[in-house]
Amino acid sequence: MKKILVTGAVGQIGSELVMALRERYGNDNVVAAGHKTPPSKELLESGPFHYINCNEISSLQEIVKKYNIDTIYHLAAILSAVAEAKPQHAWDVNINGLYNVLEVARENKCAVFTPSSIGAFGPSTPANNTPQDTIQRPNTMYGVSKVAGELLCDYYHKRFGVDARGVRYPGIISNATLPGGGTTDYAVDIYYEAIKNKRYKCFLKKGTFLDMMYMPDAIKAAIDLMEADPSKLKHRNAFNVTAMSFDPEKIAAEIKKHIPEFEIEYDVDPLRQAIADSWPNNMNDSAAREEWGWKPEYDLAKMSKDMIEVLSKKLNRK
Ligand code: SER
Repeated sequence: MKKILVTGAVGQIGSELVMALRERYGNDNVVAAGHKTPPSKELLESGPFHYINCNEISSLQEIVKKYNIDTIYHLAAILSAVAEAKPQHAWDVNINGLYNVLEVARENKCAVFTPSSIGAFGPSTPANNTPQDTIQRPNTMYGVSKVAGELLCDYYHKRFGVDARGVRYPGIISNATLPGGGTTDYAVDIYYEAIKNKRYKCFLKKGTFLDMMYMPDAIKAAIDLMEADPSKLKHRNAFNVTAMSFDPEKIAAEIKKHIPEFEIEYDVDPLRQAIADSWPNNMNDSAAREEWGWKPEYDLAKMSKDMIEVLSKKLNRK
């Protein structure tokens, strides 16, 4: 039986991944770990929860030993916009935290899932149909930490045999927990504002195309990759995965099909616009499809329908 630790369990992806893993492997076999933010009632009552600081290796070590952990989903990280505002802190969390996780994994023979990102690419990367193996010269601290993380995970696999795996996530859209300080967050906020106020002021300009994915597919990607036959994996730590690519106008047009009064306006934030401009428009994810059968379920239309249904109920608008 698997014994899993999820760091960053209170975050946007972690909070939903923990519940999916508990459903699959049993509540008591999935330990959720947060840093400071208190967990939801659902997270707390459905299985073990601990506060740990990935920058203190002893706190990681203690939980891994206590529960005999064999797999770590390491989601604790700083997102792109916050990383640009606090680059030193972002390096510390994204790199030193990952290093500690890999060290504990090496000593305790754990498998490790680490998300990389579209942020691991930069302005000199081909922006369209971005290949799996290509130029990676990001110009943000987030990107620097993601490329270094990919390389570190590859190194721990090659040098120490740690079963490290990962994907390059695009922007993740979800309706349970809000993302914290990313550049793609607009694609989550826009649904909340469309339902609440029928208007959204977008901080990215029209024509800014980025890869995106709905949360159920993001969770499926993580679990499927960790369950994949290792002999088939050539790109262990940084598979491009995407489900759709759109710009603010395209998502607004899709929302309008459900909420005809909806209007988008623009108030561009130069910091996040510059970050978005340095990222791909759309990635090629054929390596993930070939090596472990990646196939997303949600496109923009299917996701929008679901987001609007779920959020309308949640926000009591129907
Ligand atoms: N969603 C992330 C961000 O915007 C990208 O990986 O920071």
